[in-house]
Amino acid sequence: MSGEIWKPDFPTEIVNEGNVKLIVPKLKSFVKSRSEYAPSKAPVFYNPVMEFNRDLAVLALQAHQRTVNHEIAVCELLAGCGAMGIRFAAEVKGVKKVVMTDINERASKLARQNIELNNLAERVTVEHEEANLLLSRHGAPHERFDVIDIDPFGSPVPYLDSAIRALRNHGLLAVTATDMAPLCGVHSKACVRKYGGKPLRTEYCHELAVRLLAGCLASAAARRDIGIEVVFSHSSDHYVRVYATIKYGAKKADESVKSLGFVMHCFNCLHREASREILAEGCGKCSECGSKMSYAGPLWLGRISDASFCLRMEGEGKQRLLRLGERTERLLVSVEKESGTPVSYYVVDELCHILGLPVPPVRQVAEALKKEGFTAILTHFDSKGIRSDAPAKRMGDILRGIGKEKRQVLNNLGSKHVLHR
Ligand SMILES: C[S@@+](CC[C@H](N)C(=O)[O-])C[C@H]1O[C@@H](n2cnc3c(N)ncnc32)[C@H](O)[C@@H]1O
Ligand SMILES: [Zn+2]
Repeated sequence: MSGEIWKPDFPTEIVNEGNVKLIVPKLKSFVKSRSEYAPSKAPVFYNPVMEFNRDLAVLALQAHQRTVNHEIAVCELLAGCGAMGIRFAAEVKGVKKVVMTDINERASKLARQNIELNNLAERVTVEHEEANLLLSRHGAPHERFDVIDIDPFGSPVPYLDSAIRALRNHGLLAVTATDMAPLCGVHSKACVRKYGGKPLRTEYCHELAVRLLAGCLASAAARRDIGIEVVFSHSSDHYVRVYATIKYGAKKADESVKSLGFVMHCFNCLHREASREILAEGCGKCSECGSKMSYAGPLWLGRISDASFCLRMEGEGKQRLLRLGERTERLLVSVEKESGTPVSYYVVDELCHILGLPVPPVRQVAEALKKEGFTAILTHFDSKGIRSDAPAKRMGDILRGIGKEKRQVLNNLGSKHVLHR
């Protein structure tokens, strides 16, 4: 591209995010009604809501850099106005270079202006090239990246194969998916087509979405004799995000293939179980109530976050003044506590709805579960969700017990009221 200064031919404004300044499209100018989704209407993509995602990405990158303990080369594959890539270079210590690209010429030009605005031209470059082409140019061993971030509008699947090829051993792949309708089972066929696994519309479908994306990643990596380890993942707003490190070697790939399987779910009694295999004719009958089970998968049954990685991220968060610092900390603490817990969670509202019971506060249910000797861990996936080793039937008993106690208290209050009159 020539050295002349390009002037955006659309309304822009300057915003501050993290430690950087960004020229972004003035979103208000591109929507005609309140219901329109402004980021997709602007000539260059910028979504202020994704600041939270970018904050977490910065912390994850720093946690990874501290873990590998050497300078890292980063690829921000789908740049938009460059927000994420520029923040990586400005806010993460140990970043040698950031390479970005965007197929939209105006996006890559605006990203270039943002690089200049933040004085990062020595370490950050942006291309106007199709993402897979850029990754293919980085497939040779000495050209590979230490981190590749894929942050698309929709599904990241079209970029996974070439990203895995362009990532160094022990590298980190960070992947966003915003196509929640397929991943949560609203468009089941699209999910099978894209992610190679069947989704299921259960109350814990957001966790299944993370597991379907991770499973798809594991399969793509295994084809190249590469294994994966999911170090962090979350579901926030309208998207899910998975951070996985890769390890070269057929044995590593075999190990991660062993973590693929199915989640069986009974829509009658809400019993669920994870299984490495399902029968050719389906997944059989529910062991609790005998109803026909449904299934999701193949998907990732392994760990979807690593407690020590979360702690590292938390530590990094504490050292920064993030505008959304409280929210990031809350999420990290929750994900850390959830790591290593069994697949799926109960949603108190959903269970109460099925059982025809009033909905108690989720913390009260958690306490009652613990009193009965079960684990009870709240989940970031759903503010009404509890991860527990209690079978669905016992969950029902506990909820009924709480409902009964509440009725007794109300009755007692009622009779006292009568006596006092
Ligand atoms: C969701 S935006 C990226 C947002 C950005 N990561 C951020 O944090 O602001 C997705 C971008 O991918 C670009 N894009 C879509 N398909 C592409 C492709 N095949 N190659 C390169 N860029 C592509 C779009 O032009 C768009 O700017
Ligand atoms: Zn059942």
